[in-house]
Amino acid sequence: MHNATHNAIPVIAIDGPSASGKGTIAELVATELGFHYLDSGALYRIVALAAKQQNIAWDDALAVAECAKNLVIEFKNSQIFLNGADISEAIRTEEMGKGASRVAVHAAVREVLVDLQHNFCKAPGLVADGRDMGTVIFPNAPLKVFLTAATEVRAQRRYQQLINKKQADNDTQSSYADILQDLQERDARDQGRTSAPLIKAKDAILLETDHLGISQAVDYVLQNFQLKNCK
Ligand code: DC
Repeated sequence: MHNATHNAIPVIAIDGPSASGKGTIAELVATELGFHYLDSGALYRIVALAAKQQNIAWDDALAVAECAKNLVIEFKNSQIFLNGADISEAIRTEEMGKGASRVAVHAAVREVLVDLQHNFCKAPGLVADGRDMGTVIFPNAPLKVFLTAATEVRAQRRYQQLINKKQADNDTQSSYADILQDLQERDARDQGRTSAPLIKAKDAILLETDHLGISQAVDYVLQNFQLKNCK
């Protein structure tokens, strides 16, 4: 559980659906405040990648959970290592995004990742992004933001990202329509699962980014954090 030691350390929980911009915004807020940053989605992506490498089906809850228990994960600056190998790029594909969403439905898998996520909560503070940061992992976070945008806007952003990255794998062949459909499926799975579904925490601020630039969204989060801190 999110214990008393953690409560003394400020946490900004940023949740929302895929491609809502929460990763970029969370990272910038963390840099601005000098806080640590937790990209919880990366953990589910790592589990999906490791399962695939070990020929474990993403739907096999117990086998995936067992696999997750044995992973040695290291975050060094912006690189991520799995059992010593740099997998920073390998986890960013559409395939691993889908795999992450599939392994994330299993309560047993989520349970394995709880302590790992709590360990990110260190002084002077943490910005954590994901689906259940404000509802399950850091329920006492003084500031919770639920970031979202229309599905079409998010699909367009993801499509543009893939074009910009010119990934050398199948992703470059994905059409906008494929991306849109993938996002819809992923939203439905993330929102519809029984274990820690994607939902706005009651005390979260809703931030819709359809017509909002990144720096505006960052400023909005920072302003709200200052307001909470002054209380
Ligand atoms: O944020 P992302 O796109 O990297 O996340 C990939 C998937 O991981 C997402 O579709 C659902 C899952 N996830 C989760 O269930 N809980 C989190 N806190 C973060 C991600």
